[in-house]
Amino acid sequence: MRAVQFADYGGPEVLRPVEVPEPHAGPGQVRVAVRAVGVNPMDWKIRSGAMREMMPLSLPTIPGSDVAGVVDEVGAGVSGVGVGDEVFGFATAAGYAEYAVLEHFAAKPPVMSWEEAAGLPVAAETAVRALDLLGVGEDDILLVNGVSGGVGLATAQLARHRGATVIGTASPANHDFLRALGVNPTSYGPGLVERVRDISPDGVDEALDTAGKGALPDLVEITGTSDKVLTISDPDAQRYGVRMTSGAEGRSYQGLDEAARLFERGEFSLPVARTFELDQAAEAHEISQGGHVRGKLILRVG
Ligand SMILES: NC(=O)c1ccc[n+]([C@@H]2O[C@H](COP(=O)([O-])OP(=O)(O)OC[C@H]3O[C@@H](n4cnc5c(N)ncnc54)[C@H](OP(=O)(O)O)[C@@H]3O)[C@@H](O)[C@H]2O)c1
Repeated sequence: MRAVQFADYGGPEVLRPVEVPEPHAGPGQVRVAVRAVGVNPMDWKIRSGAMREMMPLSLPTIPGSDVAGVVDEVGAGVSGVGVGDEVFGFATAAGYAEYAVLEHFAAKPPVMSWEEAAGLPVAAETAVRALDLLGVGEDDILLVNGVSGGVGLATAQLARHRGATVIGTASPANHDFLRALGVNPTSYGPGLVERVRDISPDGVDEALDTAGKGALPDLVEITGTSDKVLTISDPDAQRYGVRMTSGAEGRSYQGLDEAARLFERGEFSLPVARTFELDQAAEAHEISQGGHVRGKLILRVG
């Protein structure tokens, strides 16, 4: 099958189109003929070698976890899904390929495009995990630092669905877009504490940092306690007494079904910022690494 892999850690140029043997579904798994793959920052962090101590890999490796496609093999012990079903979910490994094996997935609603579906898994799962860890509930005021990326937009929409008010930081060019989603936007960077106080004089109940770019002291000041702050990407979390969550501690897979259900009702979606062909994965990585994608970058397959 066609795939894109890297044989050495390095820049986007190490990603190369290759022909590799097809994977097959084992017990508890399905295989899909992949239609679209989502690109996540984790993909290029792994490719760069930055994660090699935390996540040692044997090279060559095919990156990618967010996949949408048509089920063409059903492994032993899997029920509720059959050949021909359209699903999206987490590839066990090797998402940038014509075929991928999934263990955790949800039915793709017919009204959802392949590209939209491939953008959901990591963003929706992380959003639900973060909202549950923070205990975000009805009438809460949630601040999301870095709200216009994949995880930020998913978190904001799911939080609003729980009845919370959302304040989010983003570049000014994204503010009108965010207002249309019901998010109160402000800029990130110096003066954040004052800007958030202007929007919400009584403070905020919880804060999620998606950006990992040094905002944790401000978020602790804004919420009044490190217990109400969570980060998904700041390596300095411990220094500020802030909890850092990662998928390694257990994933909230129900986020996939929740996102699909709300999508069907017109209450949730992640914009597809740009689509590429599979063999343009290097270009997609370069753009993702730039750090200012609104929504998701998607590779089309098949
Ligand atoms: N721990 C976990 O479980 C987990 C799970 C998923 C992702 N992550 C990590 O979380 C991070 C975000 O993931 P993602 O998929 O949402 O990324 P993404 O879609 O690439 O989003 C990046 C966003 O960051 C914003 N941004 C850039 N500089 C910023 C700054 N200084 N302050 C605040 N926001 C800033 C950008 O907003 P503007 O364009 O408006 O400037 C952009 O929308 C990545 O590092 C990823 O690896 C962790």
